[in-house]
Amino acid sequence: MKTLTTALLSFAICGAVCGSNCEAGEVEVLHFWTSPGEAKSLVELKALLAARRHVWKDFAVVGGGGQNAMTALRQRLLAGNPPASATIKGPAIQEMAALNVFADLDVMARFDHWDEGIPKVVQQQVKYKGHYVAVPVNIHRVNWLWSNSEVLTKSGVVSVPTSFDAFMVAADKIKAAGFVPLAHGGQPWQDFVLFESVVLGVGGADFFKRAFVDLDPYALSSPEMKKVLETFRRLKPYTDDKSRGRDWNVATDMVIKGKAAFQFMGDWAKGEFLVAGQRPGHEFNCTPSPGSASAFSYVVDTFTMFQLKGWEAQKAQGYLAYVLLGDEFQEKFSQRKGSIPVRMNVSVEKFDDCGQSSRRDFISSEKSNELVPSVAVDMAVATWTQAALRAVVSDFWNIEALSVNEAMNKLVLAAASPRPK
Ligand code: GAL
Repeated sequence: MKTLTTALLSFAICGAVCGSNCEAGEVEVLHFWTSPGEAKSLVELKALLAARRHVWKDFAVVGGGGQNAMTALRQRLLAGNPPASATIKGPAIQEMAALNVFADLDVMARFDHWDEGIPKVVQQQVKYKGHYVAVPVNIHRVNWLWSNSEVLTKSGVVSVPTSFDAFMVAADKIKAAGFVPLAHGGQPWQDFVLFESVVLGVGGADFFKRAFVDLDPYALSSPEMKKVLETFRRLKPYTDDKSRGRDWNVATDMVIKGKAAFQFMGDWAKGEFLVAGQRPGHEFNCTPSPGSASAFSYVVDTFTMFQLKGWEAQKAQGYLAYVLLGDEFQEKFSQRKGSIPVRMNVSVEKFDDCGQSSRRDFISSEKSNELVPSVAVDMAVATWTQAALRAVVSDFWNIEALSVNEAMNKLVLAAASPRPK
C-alpha cells in the first residue's frame, strides 16, 4: 500500500503556517449525494476546500443508496483511473482494499489522533490489515420512523406507534382519513431498509445479528423469520400504487407535504425535512421504528482515498482527509445530513432532539449489545451476499405468490451465495 506520508504531513504544516498561500490541487470526489438535503450537506466541504484554493471536482452519480455510484467507481478502477476519493462503505472497503488501490492514511491518522475519537466498530470498517484506508465521516441510524404531525392529528392518531401491531391500527385510521399511511420508495434497497426495521422491531437485535451478520441458516428459516416476513407483508397495503421505483427523497416529500403519514428511512431523511424548513417535534417527528427503540442499526459514510500520482493532487486529497474529521466540519455536516459526528468527542449539544437521541442511543445500544451494522445499507455482509439477500426481500415484497416458506429458503440460499468470479 502506498503511504501518503510526505504529502499528508505537508498539508498539515501547510495548514498551520502558510494558510491560503499554499499551492492548490484538484480533488475529484465520487459521491451520490444529490437529493436537496444531501447536496446541502456538501456545501460546507466544498467551501472548506475552496478556502485553501483546492478545486473540488464533482463526480456525482444520481441514485439514492449509492448503487449506481459503486458501478461507476468500478468502471473507473477497471480503466485504471480512480478519482481522488469516493464515498463507499462497509465491507466494500475491505473488498476494494484487497486490490491495493487505496492510499495508506496511517500518518494522517496518528497526526490527527483518529484512534482516540472514532468508535472501535467504525475503526474496524475503515482499517485494512490494521492500516487506515478510508476516512469515516458520520454515523447514520437506519431504524427510524418519520411522521407528519398534522396528518396523525387529522387521522386521530394520538401518538407514534411503538409496536408493529400498533402501527397497523394507526395505519388503518390514517387510510380511513384519506391519507397514504406509508410513503414508500419501491426500489430494492428501500424495500430492504423497511425490512430491516421489521427485523429489528419483531425479531430484536440478537436475532438480527444471527440472521444478517452471522448468516445463520437456522435463524434465516426460524419461526422469528416467519413472523418478520408476515409482518413485512402486512405493511404493503398501506403503501400507494405509485410506490414502485420511487426515489427515497420523493417518498420523504410525501410526508413533508402531508400526503402521507409515515416513512421508514435512515436519518438522511431528516436533511430533507430541514431543507423544507420543518422542525422535529413540530411539523415532523423522528422516532425509532416500532419495537426497536433500544437497537441501533448504523451506517458510516466513508471517504476512501485512492492512490494518486502527482504532488498537488495528493496534497488536495490529504487536506480533504483532514477536514472531514475536523471538529467544525463534523458538527456542521451531520447537522445537515441528519447523522451524528463519527468523532465521539465532538459535542452534539447544538443538535436537535433527533441528533441528541441518536448519540445517546448509539452509546446505550453498544452497551446493551443492540448496536448492529445495517444489512440493508451496505454495512453487514459482503457486497455479493447483500445483493442476493436484497433481491429476495424485494421479490417477496413485490410478488404476492412468493410464500413465506419459499422466501425463507431463498434467504438461506442467498446467504450462502458464492463470491462472483
Ligand atoms: C446511504 C448513505 C446515506 C444516504 C442514503 C441515501 O447509502 O449512507 O448517506 O444519503 O444512502 O442516498
